[in-house]
Amino acid sequence: MSTAATPARVAVVTGGGGDVGAAVAARLSADGWTVVVADVDEPAARHVAGRLPRTHARLLDVADPGAIRSFVADTSAEFARIDALVCAAGIEPPQSLADVDPGSWDRTQDVNLRGPALIAQATLPLWRAQGSGSMVNIGSRTWLGGGHPGYAASKAGLVGLTRSLAMELAPIGVRVNAVAPSFIRTKFSRQRGDEQMLDDYAERVRAATPMRELVRPEDVANAVAFLASDQAARITGEVLHVCAGAQLPTFL
Ligand SMILES: NC(=O)c1ccc[n+]([C@@H]2O[C@H](COP(=O)([O-])OP(=O)(O)OC[C@H]3O[C@@H](n4cnc5c(N)ncnc54)[C@H](O)[C@@H]3O)[C@@H](O)[C@H]2O)c1
Repeated sequence: MSTAATPARVAVVTGGGGDVGAAVAARLSADGWTVVVADVDEPAARHVAGRLPRTHARLLDVADPGAIRSFVADTSAEFARIDALVCAAGIEPPQSLADVDPGSWDRTQDVNLRGPALIAQATLPLWRAQGSGSMVNIGSRTWLGGGHPGYAASKAGLVGLTRSLAMELAPIGVRVNAVAPSFIRTKFSRQRGDEQMLDDYAERVRAATPMRELVRPEDVANAVAFLASDQAARITGEVLHVCAGAQLPTFL
């Protein structure tokens, strides 16, 4: 817990108004962090922040480079540090290859992949000054295959980004890791279809998952809290699958 002598560490959670981001914000807040919940859906961010101590809602569109620069500048001015940057903002247009259009392809990469890169870039001066920091990117099991192509490509790219930043930022004391969950029943999954279709899909995923269980937002939050904390002090460049075994080959 923080004391007057050791101010609370500051975490930014993009997509913090969503189900996974909200679980991450709740867990980090419970662990004593000051949390900035940043989301393009400001009412959702306010809803999450309003229920948690030391938690603040901010409007942020991670697809907008200018908004990212302003957000990081304002956050630095207000909170003085960013100890953990959790990138959970994400979209998944439910498009198979035949349906892919350039506009939604680009939007998916801009939100899921370019967003984390540009926020890290904007945070770099602060991390250099701090000599420490931790970035946790929320990837997806689909980086291994089996997802909508534009989405899976963005999440595979996020692994490449994670590993490259881990190498580039290690000398300044900043760790970069990813958490890759399998299907979670959230607002996000509603992009796939209606409730009946989701019930059927969830049951198929559960039945095909080695542990015969679905992943919950809290499972992701536990992994993020570990990777963001000093308990993971010498862990960087990793992809932690939170999949109840769904990342394992299941053809045998
Ligand atoms: N739900 C799943 O099945 C699942 C599985 C694996 C990975 N993920 C990943 O987990 C992360 C969180 O997903 P979730 O399930 O909580 O979904 P969610 O839809 O509940 O939350 C996503 C949040 O991101 C926000 N967002 C979208 N575009 C944004 C933008 N341009 N700028 C800022 N915020 C933006 C949304 O407003 C929303 O609050 C995503 O990155 C997603 O790819 C989800």
